[in-house]
Amino acid sequence: MTVREATWRDLAAMARLEQRCFPHDAWSEETFWAELAQRPRRSYWVAVDDARDGGEVVGYAGLDVAGDLADVMTVAVDPRRRGSGLGTRLLETMHGRAEGAGARAVLLEVRADNHGARSLYAGLGYQVVRVRPGYYRSTGSAPPVDALVMRKELVGP
Ligand SMILES: CC(C)(COP(=O)(O)OP(=O)(O)OC[C@H]1O[C@@H](n2cnc3c(N)ncnc32)[C@H](O)[C@@H]1OP(=O)(O)O)[C@@H](O)C(=O)NCCC(=O)NCCS
Repeated sequence: MTVREATWRDLAAMARLEQRCFPHDAWSEETFWAELAQRPRRSYWVAVDDARDGGEVVGYAGLDVAGDLADVMTVAVDPRRRGSGLGTRLLETMHGRAEGAGARAVLLEVRADNHGARSLYAGLGYQVVRVRPGYYRSTGSAPPVDALVMRKELVGP
């Protein structure tokens, strides 16, 4: 498994995986193109299974760095590849990039009901610093869901 920076050649595969990971609010391929156009402030990373012919994209993550703060834009892993440390590896790669670019902390937003992602982030040292009540709309008649803003310090005081 290789984690490397994404290029425009990866965007179609990333958009396909996005459909499977976020079926209700998937980013389009055009959105990924627009994100990649914001490099170097934004950077996107893919986990590629080298054992598959041509290399299959099985995960990706995106980061925005602005001054001493970085934001995780997204992180997703192929449902068949979850639970083997890939999400952790992608986030650690982004932490390294953020530190290298001079960021002191990383922020992200997560749905309060996304317990898997919340455990992943908590295990990596993220703490909830703010709640945005009812930020995410739900499908059907379900009530909206809070957004949690989580923050991880990269360097000590
Ligand atoms: C969240 C996501 C990226 C995690 O990817 P992953 O490769 O499975 O993560 P890891 O294998 O590195 O998991 C590391 C730790 O996170 C926690 N974790 C991850 N998924 C979990 C789940 N579904 N339930 C409980 N804990 C979970 C566990 O503590 C896990 O450690 P363990 O395997 O030793 O128990 C993946 O589930 C995913 O793509 N989800 C859909 C998209 C999404 O919700 N993205 C986040 C948007 S904010």
